[in-house]
Amino acid sequence: NPLQGAQFILAAHQISQLPEDSGAEVAFAGRSNAGKSSALNALTGQKALARTSKTPGRTQQMVAFDLPAGRAAAGPRRLIDLPGYGYAKVPEALRAHWRQEIDAYLNQRRSLRGVILIMDIRHPLKDFDRMMLDFCEATGLACHVLLTKADKLSRNQAGQALLSMRKSLQALRPEGFSAQVFSSSDMTGVDTAREVVMGWLDA
Ligand code: GTP
Ligand code: MG
Repeated sequence: NPLQGAQFILAAHQISQLPEDSGAEVAFAGRSNAGKSSALNALTGQKALARTSKTPGRTQQMVAFDLPAGRAAAGPRRLIDLPGYGYAKVPEALRAHWRQEIDAYLNQRRSLRGVILIMDIRHPLKDFDRMMLDFCEATGLACHVLLTKADKLSRNQAGQALLSMRKSLQALRPEGFSAQVFSSSDMTGVDTAREVVMGWLDA
C-alpha cells in the first residue's frame, strides 16, 4: 500500500498555515460525519491516523499528512483532510469561514491535483456536496466521489445509489467527475479509491 507511510504534519485554521505549496496533494472533503477521517484511515491502512468521532464536526481544521517520497524529483506528496460542515450544530460564522477558506484553497493551491468528495451513500448530494462540485467545476479540478457507509445498504441498493450519482455528476460536468461505492467498515472499494489518489499524485 503506497499510502501506508502517511504521517501527520500539521493542522491549519487557514490556508496560509498549510505546508509550502509544492509537489502534489489530494484533498478529502465531505459533510460533517460523512466519514472523511475514516476513509483516510482506510486508504492509508492506519487505524488512528485521522481522528474519527461519532460527534459531527470533529475535524475543525485542515489537517495535512505527508507521504513518503515518490518518483525522484517529483517533490513532496500530501493528503489534506478538509473540515466538514453541513450539520446544524456547526455555527454559521464557522461555516462561512470554512466556505471561504475551502473556496480559496481550491482556487489557489497549485499542488492540488484532485478532490476526494466523501458522501454518506444514504444521504448524497446535500448542499455542501453541491457547493464542492460547483467549486471543482469552476476551477476545473478533478473530483472523485466516495459513496461511503455502503455496508449500511444491500448490494442492490448501493448499485442503484451509484447509478443515480453517476447520472447527477454527468449532468453537472461530463468529464472530470467520477464516483464509486466505498466502506471504511468492510473495506469495499478501498483499492479502487487508492488507485485514483495515487494516479493523481503521480500524474
Ligand atoms: P467530521 O470530522 O466530524 O466532520 O466527520 P468525518 O467525516 O471525519 O467522519 P468520521 O470518519 O469521524 O466518521 C463519522 C462516523 O461514521 C463514525 O462513527 C464512524 O465510525 C462512522 N463511519 C465512518 N465510515 C463508515 C463506514 O464506512 N461504515 C459505517 N458503518 N460507519 C462509518
Ligand atoms: Mg473528521
